[in-house]
Amino acid sequence: MTRTDATRQHPAVSRDVTSNARAERLRTTLSLSGLGHWLTLPALTAMAGVLTRDDDLAVRAQAVGLVLAAWLLPLVVLPPAGAAVAARLDRRIALLSADAARAVLVLSVPLVDLLIPAINPLLWTGVAAVLVSLAGLVWAAAADGCAPPAGDGDAERRSLWRSVFAMAPFAALLFTFLALVADGVLDVPDRAHLALYATFAIFAVTALLSGLTRDLPAGPAPAAAVEAPVVALVRRSGEAGAPGLLFAVAATALATGSLLALAKVHARELGGGDPGYGMVLVALAAGIAFGVFLGPRVLGPFSRRRLLGLAVVAAALALLVIALVQNLVVVVFVTAFLGVAAGIVWAAATLTAAPAVRPRAAAAVVTLLAAAVAPPLAGALGVHRLKVAGAVYDFTGVGAVLLIAAVVTLVAGLLAYRRLDDRRGIPLSLDLAAALRGEVYAPPVPVELEVPRAKPERGVFIAFEGGEGAGKTTQARLAAIWLRDHGYDVVSTNEPGATKTGMRLRALLLDKETTGLSSRAETLLYAADRADHVANVIRPAMERGAIVVSDRYVDSSLAYQGYGRRQPVEEIAEVNAWATGGLVPDLTVLLEVPPETGLNRLTTEPDRMESEPRDFHDRVLAGFRALAEAHPERYLIVSADRDRSQTEISREIQERIGELLPDPVPAGTEDITSTFPAITDA
Ligand code: TYD
Repeated sequence: MTRTDATRQHPAVSRDVTSNARAERLRTTLSLSGLGHWLTLPALTAMAGVLTRDDDLAVRAQAVGLVLAAWLLPLVVLPPAGAAVAARLDRRIALLSADAARAVLVLSVPLVDLLIPAINPLLWTGVAAVLVSLAGLVWAAAADGCAPPAGDGDAERRSLWRSVFAMAPFAALLFTFLALVADGVLDVPDRAHLALYATFAIFAVTALLSGLTRDLPAGPAPAAAVEAPVVALVRRSGEAGAPGLLFAVAATALATGSLLALAKVHARELGGGDPGYGMVLVALAAGIAFGVFLGPRVLGPFSRRRLLGLAVVAAALALLVIALVQNLVVVVFVTAFLGVAAGIVWAAATLTAAPAVRPRAAAAVVTLLAAAVAPPLAGALGVHRLKVAGAVYDFTGVGAVLLIAAVVTLVAGLLAYRRLDDRRGIPLSLDLAAALRGEVYAPPVPVELEVPRAKPERGVFIAFEGGEGAGKTTQARLAAIWLRDHGYDVVSTNEPGATKTGMRLRALLLDKETTGLSSRAETLLYAADRADHVANVIRPAMERGAIVVSDRYVDSSLAYQGYGRRQPVEEIAEVNAWATGGLVPDLTVLLEVPPETGLNRLTTEPDRMESEPRDFHDRVLAGFRALAEAHPERYLIVSADRDRSQTEISREIQERIGELLPDPVPAGTEDITSTFPAITDA
């Protein structure tokens, strides 16, 4: 079949093909701009180094630091301005003008140096750094608006930005290559020009490509709320869980920021010149990229918060080595290691933070501070000649500042680990060993959990449990329908909110407006709902001999308020034993899906519990499993992941329920899911 035939028959396919090709082209252009963007950093800072034309470390470090700070400043304070400009321009015009402006600006730096003696070239480099960065912000806002609108387009937007960020190591590599070429063929003052010419060429091409493209919808990008990192940091640092997390991120940014600010002068001291500087940047950028992409996957089930604390400590130790070992090859290798640790910190922090907390803002602000403070401090400390066991050892201000930063990061990392640790009392070694086996180490369920069982009732009590989006509601309803079809008196119910009072408690518990509720109060409110539920719904039904099927019961409190909120599980069990008069289900069906899958299935706006960060849901799941594994005779663990059909899952459940019934019925005699396709989790 020719392509036109296929197109005629499947118009949807052809539309997809063209829109994919369009998205691909657009992404290539934007990634190329990203390459230019990252290249401006080493190109402009290297230019600053050359322009000092001075061997004095202090002067050189200061010049490089100032240009770096000039490049970073707009990123930290002006993103809203960039977004405001982009919102007034047609997307294509915004991309075109931002790249054209950046092309002209980077070209102006060597031209001013060569042709206009009246302008101080170093000053102009600094000014160009601010303006390039500002144009970059307009570009970023317009580029962001090229992905489909928030919601639908989130995955596409993330992937677009991933490709832009992934350009950083390539830009550093290109810079290294250009520096090597320049060292071979150009004289000293002109050496730094080559990277700037290359950056000019890249932006000239991307400006042209953006100008010619037909792949963009007309009009400005839809306005998005943009917050400057400084503002975000001040406003959001009070959010629950934020201080420890932001502290860890800031400590890591101190390590990477100080190294970034001093890499140029340090590489020169170690005899590596600009190619050496380039290699340090390659190692840092590639390390960070590797850490971000791979880090959280390597130790999947390991506590994110513990991982976060450990990675900060690892970053600090790496910086310690970089500060003390005066050998460029070692510095480059260890910098890659530092990058991986930092990448893991960013990734784990982003996954752990509540949506309102902005770890990247903290990183940006601290990097700017490090760029502003580290170089002058290094200059002020100067060079010290030490005699260690007869050998002479020149310890420079750069080494000293890196050492100070490493020690501060180390102390901060240890404090952050203590503060973030969500598995206190569980030895790190057990946790690590379990993670290497691909499991979460779950502590044995305390013996006190054995609550006294109430006197046998006449009915049967079945509870469905699981994390968010596991399909409990669907499966509980299907089980009830199946039982009713076989002539049983069935009461379908759920928690929280099965009674009138319960509804009011539910509203209070799940409303996001309920802020600052203490974990104990939350536990008691769920228990109060449950007490009312048992007294008014479950117990009366059991007494008349009915089968009660409840969507959630006590285990939800043990898993969410106990494991999730890290409160003592035994105490919560006691409170609930009292609330329910010791009523324990005859069978608890635990539906297991990975939190990511479950949370992605949710179709409504997340409620207060659903908005908790990923690691909370990880703990809830581990908690459910620990409870179920402690009493296999009272539990059925059902894997409810994507590969299994609802019918298959409900058959497995029916078989187990069948064993409890006075008159067992054969399981799965008909496919009831097809009769009720519309049932989904509320
Ligand atoms: P609900 O909308 O019923 O959730 P789902 O559809 O996932 O069952 O809301 C119940 C929420 O309350 C859910 O996020 C779990 C939480 N919860 C507790 O934290 N503790 C409890 O004891 C119960 C019953 C629920």
